[in-house]
Amino acid sequence: MAKIKKQETGMAVNDLLTAEHARLRKSVAEIQAAFEKSPSAAGDIFLRFKDAVRLHFRREDEVYFKILDDGKRISNRELMHDIRNDHAAVVFALESLAIKIRKQVPVAEWKPKFDHMISFFLPHLDQEEKELFPEGARILAAEQMNQILEDMQNLPEQQQ
Ligand SMILES: [Fe+2]
Ligand SMILES: [Fe+2]
Repeated sequence: MAKIKKQETGMAVNDLLTAEHARLRKSVAEIQAAFEKSPSAAGDIFLRFKDAVRLHFRREDEVYFKILDDGKRISNRELMHDIRNDHAAVVFALESLAIKIRKQVPVAEWKPKFDHMISFFLPHLDQEEKELFPEGARILAAEQMNQILEDMQNLPEQQQ
């Protein structure tokens, strides 16, 4: 991950995650385009997308949200619950899709499951940007945000 300079406002965390969202949305569009043009490429792009999503979720769950929601301080519990539920559901769908793709099942067999996952993955990104990241900017001090940024960049590699 490219090093992002610390900022007085501590907004770099939200900027970094929002930039990752943009890259993930782009990968989704690439997979969708490949379904038409080159089904075998769709599987390859998907496997890279899966790893990128899992790393992104770890940055959020293990670093950012852990500090942001420390002591359950996010008052909108339903929002936090939905965000965490989405992560669990997306991870489950990603891994079961990866198994199918590695077994080289035809695209027609895994595309509907991918489409279903995307139907809640994309709104999840929007919801974080519109509802949760602004809470982070409101609640956390610049110093805490800078610590989060550093911890995200030093997140140890993990077997997925
Ligand atoms: Fe997320
Ligand atoms: Fe996210």
